[in-house]
Amino acid sequence: MQIFGVDIGGSGIKGAPVDLDRGDLAQERQKVLTPHPAIPEDVAACVAEVVGRFDWSGPVGITFPGVVTDGCTRTAANVDKTWIDTDARGMLGDRLGLPVTLLNDADAAGIAEMTFGAGRGRKGTVIVLTFGTGIGSALFVDGKLVPNTELGHLELNGHDAEKHASTKAKEDEELSWHHWAHRVQKYLSHVEMLFSPELFVIGGGVSRKADKFLPLIEHVRAEMVPAELQNNAGIVGAAMAASDTVA
Ligand code: BGC
Repeated sequence: MQIFGVDIGGSGIKGAPVDLDRGDLAQERQKVLTPHPAIPEDVAACVAEVVGRFDWSGPVGITFPGVVTDGCTRTAANVDKTWIDTDARGMLGDRLGLPVTLLNDADAAGIAEMTFGAGRGRKGTVIVLTFGTGIGSALFVDGKLVPNTELGHLELNGHDAEKHASTKAKEDEELSWHHWAHRVQKYLSHVEMLFSPELFVIGGGVSRKADKFLPLIEHVRAEMVPAELQNNAGIVGAAMAASDTVA
């Protein structure tokens, strides 16, 4: 079966039909740049542009980089604040004229990793973290997602953790791998203190460069592995979430 997946990110809005049996894109994905400011109507127009580049008329799963409960977007750390308390699922569904499932971006990436990637078959407590503009988190207990955990906003050294340890912080402050890994280590230790996971799956674009920083991280008891689906995890997970609504 195929379902369309869209990943709304801070820099790009990407989408493609997903082959749910393989957990991979069925066609090459399309991408448009995220508008600035990233207000709901403009983002919806970009989502429609991406979906419109395919001959698609079925359900669409869409990720959002903030808390999503019952189709409403509740926080907006890295997008325009007008998303807060918006019926985004209704708005996107009306714009596309298609049934829409909306979920947090890290939750979507986590769902994909737990079925097709680095968390496949893993029981117990698994935490998938995505490092990018922010830090996203997806918490799984015996394979079941606890949605909207928002562990990127834990306080670390008096700061919002994602401001200190995201990939954006590394770039903005021109941190060396060593320096950044030290911050990530402190962050992981804090998360470990709270949840004692068996496994951390480290995702986001930076997972491609895992060899540059994962070996530098010590004092974390849990196993740490890079995500496997990398750039497409959000798209695949969004489509998987939407498929749950199709009987
Ligand atoms: C948001 C999360 C999101 C993460 C990654 C954070 O700032 O609060 O909801 O998953 O960024 O995009």
